[in-house]
Amino acid sequence: MAINAEEFRAAMGTWPSGVTIITARAGEEIHGMTVSDFSGVSLDPPLVLVCASKSSHTTSVIQKGENFGVNVLRVDQDALSNKFASKKNEWNRFDDVATFEVKTGAPLIADALVNLDCRLVALHDAGDHVLCVGEIESATVNEGQPLLYFKGGYGRFEPKG
Ligand SMILES: Cc1cc2nc3c(=O)[nH]c(=O)nc-3n(C[C@H](O)[C@H](O)[C@H](O)COP(=O)(O)O)c2cc1C
Repeated sequence: MAINAEEFRAAMGTWPSGVTIITARAGEEIHGMTVSDFSGVSLDPPLVLVCASKSSHTTSVIQKGENFGVNVLRVDQDALSNKFASKKNEWNRFDDVATFEVKTGAPLIADALVNLDCRLVALHDAGDHVLCVGEIESATVNEGQPLLYFKGGYGRFEPKG
């Protein structure tokens, strides 16, 4: 018998990750949400994947527009992470957030640690989520420290002395 939701959360919560905001554009419509399930996939071609809930509005914009932006958050951007995860004022998430575009039209968050502009190349069904695979069209890497997520809380990277 498969494990229950509580057991799944307890197990997966021990896997530390960075925090991203995944953004997308379909015509005039833009949207975005906080995502920790992000991974590099392939070097040649350069592919990444995002594990997105089927019930998320961002997922439907990714599917419609066939693009997404990956914005890796800085250590001091936990409030931005919470803003893009909250359903309260969901349609105003981009208020006061400076963005820019490069090739695909996905809005990229100006002061993130890393911005990847991705063209959607594949979607894979995975239970209540969908794996969105994107080819990186452009990458911007800035100096700074990442925001980390572990056991349901935020933290910072501390190098071993
Ligand atoms: C730290 C953190 C990590 C998250 N990671 C994911 C994720 O990997 N995939 C996902 O679908 N939702 C993830 N979420 C939840 C979404 O951000 C949340 O459900 C959001 O409200 C979806 O917005 P939307 O329906 O407007 O797209 C995460 C939330 C937080 C706070």
